[in-house]
Parts: sequence; structure tokens; C-alpha cells
Amino acid sequence: MSAGAAADLFRRAHGRDPGVVASAPGRVNLIGEHTDYNGGEVLPIAIDRRTWVAIGQTTGSVCSAVSRDADGAGTFSLDDTAPSGQWWDYLHGALREVRGHLGGGSAWAVAVASDVPSGAGLSSSAALEVATVVAAAHLVAPGLTLPFEQVATLAHRAEREFVGVACGIMDQWASAGATAGHALRIWCDDGRSERVPFSRDVLVIDTAVPRALRHSAFNARQASCVRALEVLQRSRPGLATLAEASLAEVERSLGGEDLRRARHVVTETARVGQFVDALRHGEPLGALLAASHRSLRDDYECSSPELDWVVDRAMDTPGVDGARLTGAGWGGCAIAVGEPMALDTLAATIAAEYPTRWGHAARTWRTRASDGAKIDA
Ligand code: GLA
Repeated sequence: MSAGAAADLFRRAHGRDPGVVASAPGRVNLIGEHTDYNGGEVLPIAIDRRTWVAIGQTTGSVCSAVSRDADGAGTFSLDDTAPSGQWWDYLHGALREVRGHLGGGSAWAVAVASDVPSGAGLSSSAALEVATVVAAAHLVAPGLTLPFEQVATLAHRAEREFVGVACGIMDQWASAGATAGHALRIWCDDGRSERVPFSRDVLVIDTAVPRALRHSAFNARQASCVRALEVLQRSRPGLATLAEASLAEVERSLGGEDLRRARHVVTETARVGQFVDALRHGEPLGALLAASHRSLRDDYECSSPELDWVVDRAMDTPGVDGARLTGAGWGGCAIAVGEPMALDTLAATIAAEYPTRWGHAARTWRTRASDGAKIDA
């Protein structure tokens, strides 16, 4: 897959050459899960799967979009304020943000080609939003190089305000700002970030479980975190985010479900710094990955039997350092880090045993920290 696929589709669908093709990757998070919307830290890498957006301005007021990988062609107006529930909502929202913040016309022709699996928790939606912002901004403001944080902010606004998903900033930041050979450490309270060298192989394991409950469960977890912060602020009014609370405060002031959710958030945020230190000193990563998975499974309750099974298989494989679920959870993907040959052995074990155990196949592939968004052609 390449920029050429999106450009060819553009020519077939719209009868002319695109003005530009830009692309943006999906991501996996190494550690720091469910911390971004709590003002904590995250450490994603961009994966070697991308979404290419070929785009051109047209006359009139109607936008038209096709995709190589999704059904249906979108026809919409940037003045529409309600999403359609279709795949093009992400680029529709992104084009509205570009028009609102950078100007440009209201009519666009678009063609999309992607090899980021959708519905697997690999941020295919962020990849589409970010690639659209980069491509459209290039045509609207030629010569202006937007800082990646600004690209990510526009893409994130598209997701929150137009599509209506109350996600944190991690996915758009990673897709816009990651660089090959590095993880991106992001402080989600103020959007600061730093690049941390990371050249290890990562096995991505997609449990291929439909994520029917993910949306409502995600919202319930967010609500729990908001409640927990409100309780903690009664004894410490200056506390700005849940991630900033200490474990002692959380254990003293909270109980039941909210205690467990908050305990995950504060311990997980601390693990990001510990993971970065371990990387810098060449120390083992396995214990931190295992602790993250346990906390997600037991305190945040966002794992699934399939994810737990995959993580157990990984821990049983000699040469695999560690594994955990990645992304929102409730199905979706796990990652394993280790020696390339050990990861291949794990992939073979999963190919052989997963279908018998779970009645359908899992997908696996090895990836490395890849580049974020860019202009391709
Ligand atoms: C989803 C959201 C992210 C983040 C993760 C959990 O992927 O889109 O913003 O909250 O879940 O870490």
C-alpha cells in the first residue's frame, strides 16, 4: 500500500489528479493506558500501517469522498453540523476544523486508502483525521508548516466536537507527532511531549473481537474518574487532574469502584516514567508491562478473556520480555515486546492455538516505531 493507491482511486473517482496526498499512521501505546483523559502520561509509538488521503479543492459547496477500504461514497456539506454515522465523518470533521482555523473553501474531493485495520483499537480514526488535516492544510496554506501539536489539536477537535467521541489526546498526538525509532512521551495535562529512543520489535496481536461494549464502558470509566477527582478535590482544592493525585490520597479518600479506577490511573501514570527510565538504562521492561496489564484487568476492568489469554501465552514464551493490552481494551489488541525470534514463536503459537480456543483467528504482525504524518506526493 502506498500514496499511489489513494492517488489512483482519486483519479478514477474524481476524473483528475489530486492536489496532494498525505498520510498518517495508526498507533499502539507502549504504556500509560486510560491516563490521557485524566491528565496523565502516555507513551505511544506510530505503527507501520498508514492511511493515505488524496485531496483536491473543487468549486461549489459539496464534498465528495471515496475509500478503497470502506463501503459507500460520502457526499456532504461542511455546513452540516451533525455526523452521519458513516466512515467519512472523521474527514468531514477534520475539513470543518481546517476551514474554521486556516480558511480555504468549502468543497473538497477526497480519496482514502488505508492499511490500518479499523475497529481494532489501532486509531484508524485518528489516522484518517490527521492525514486529512495535513493534506487540506497543505493546500489551504501552502508554505505554512504547522507544528504537529496544532495538526493534532485540529484532528482531536474533529473527533470530540464533530464525531462526538470524548477521547483523550493520545491517538491524534501519536499519529501527528511520532518519529521512526522513537516513542512519544506525552504529558496530557498540557500537551508537552518528548521523543524517547525505542528501537525494539513489537508484536501486535489483534484478538479480532468486536468491541460492542467499548463505547459505553469507556464513558462509564470516564464518569468514574470525574467523580473520583471531585471527591479528592474536597480535601485538596488545587488538584487539577486525577493523575496528579498520590496513591495515598486515592486510598484514603475513595472506596469501591471509583477507588479501583483511580488507583489504576495514578499507578499507571507513574509506570510511564519508570518505563522511560528503564528504556534509557537498558533495563528489563517486562515487570512494568505485566503490572500495567494486571492493573487494567483488575482495577480498570477493561481487559477481555481473549486479551488475558494472549498476554499469558506471551509471558510463557521464552525471550518475550512482556505483554499487555493496548488501547482502550474490551477486545482489540495486545502488544508483546521481546527478541524478534521469540515474537515469531509467539505469533506461531497464537496462529496454532487461538482459533481452537476462541473459535476465530487472531491477527498478528511485527512492527517498529514508525514515522508520524507526512506529505507523500
Ligand atoms: C482510546 C482513546 C485514547 C485513550 C485510550 C486508552 O484509544 O481514544 O484517547 O484514552 O483509549 O488509553
